[in-house]
Amino acid sequence: MSNLRIVVYGLGPIGQLITKVALERGMEVTGAIDIDPSKVGKDIGEVLGLGKSMGIKVESDADKVLSSSRPDVVLHSTGTWLDRVYPQLVKAIKVGADVVSTCETLAWPWYRYPDLAELIDSYAKSHDSTVLGAGVNPGFIFDALPAVLSTTLVRLNRISIIRSLNAAERRQSFQRKIGLGMTPSQFKEALSRGEITAHVGFAESVLLTASIIGINLSEVREGQEAIIADRHYETPYFKIEPGQVRGVDGYGVGLVNGHEVIKVELKACAACENFEEVRLEGEPNVTWRSSGTPGDPATAAVVVNLADRVTEARPGLITLKDLIKYSYSW
Ligand SMILES: NC(=O)c1ccc[n+]([C@@H]2O[C@H](COP(=O)([O-])OP(=O)(O)OC[C@H]3O[C@@H](n4cnc5c(N)ncnc54)[C@H](OP(=O)(O)O)[C@@H]3O)[C@@H](O)[C@H]2O)c1
Repeated sequence: MSNLRIVVYGLGPIGQLITKVALERGMEVTGAIDIDPSKVGKDIGEVLGLGKSMGIKVESDADKVLSSSRPDVVLHSTGTWLDRVYPQLVKAIKVGADVVSTCETLAWPWYRYPDLAELIDSYAKSHDSTVLGAGVNPGFIFDALPAVLSTTLVRLNRISIIRSLNAAERRQSFQRKIGLGMTPSQFKEALSRGEITAHVGFAESVLLTASIIGINLSEVREGQEAIIADRHYETPYFKIEPGQVRGVDGYGVGLVNGHEVIKVELKACAACENFEEVRLEGEPNVTWRSSGTPGDPATAAVVVNLADRVTEARPGLITLKDLIKYSYSW
């Protein structure tokens, strides 16, 4: 049980799960922020479907909520791109709160946003705030998990991780962002215009894994493409006809002097098998396989489980490298 004072920033499906887990863990939710007009003004008990009032209304004025409720930690889940969520993080830092955010590009922000990473780090340090990007992926399956598993190897040559998941079991916003039911050309256009993101975080996970283990990568590559349906599929939110997008297949790789030392691969599609497999090549060879991690509750669990850890961590912008103490030492 934790008695942390929490503000939840973003009450989409992930923010709602985070709030439920935080409440279950005995955390005190002192404020809730969202801009969605269908949530603003409502009690969080109603938004979460708890059937009772919690005495906390969802508000859109983040500065007001944060300054009046003075949280220990802000659990943030409004978006993927750091340049868009940066002003929100600044508001939380300004009141001295620590932050755990599901923003994928914050997991290793020096890759896409080195300038913002420096700004966040120095602003957080000057306000005694700790800021961390984490979740299930990036934040666990492609990085923290293989790094910890590598601890038992005498010699490590290469790491590869495959995650396969049944997208039909994920939340609607996930199914939308991987383009289910689009034609291949709609998918390409929507992805290039930023209307959908598919998976974001391949490179972040590769860099995070490398940093925890101590691998000095010379190159990082990533990419993804649509998986096209060869028959009819149906999810709770989309009907997919043959020739339309059934999901995505993407990868990230990290190389040292032309040799691939880290590879992460995600297959997220309707009716895909649920599993994760981590392969560590070296001495000994180790293969670890799961029957699949349910991504949405896992994201909420990771965020809530890390809330206490960030309050104990040094001020500034941190990554999971600062929290994970076990791994192979490259
Ligand atoms: N790292 C990981 O493993 C991981 C895992 C799961 C999700 N994620 C990421 O976490 C984020 C949240 O996921 P989700 O599915 O819950 O997303 P979502 O459905 O887009 O919900 C986000 C919520 O935040 C609100 N919001 C947007 N901008 C805001 C702002 N400036 N101030 C206050 N509220 C704001 C949105 O309102 P409107 O709808 O009105 O915009 C919406 O209610 C996504 O970016 C997702 O990609 C990361």
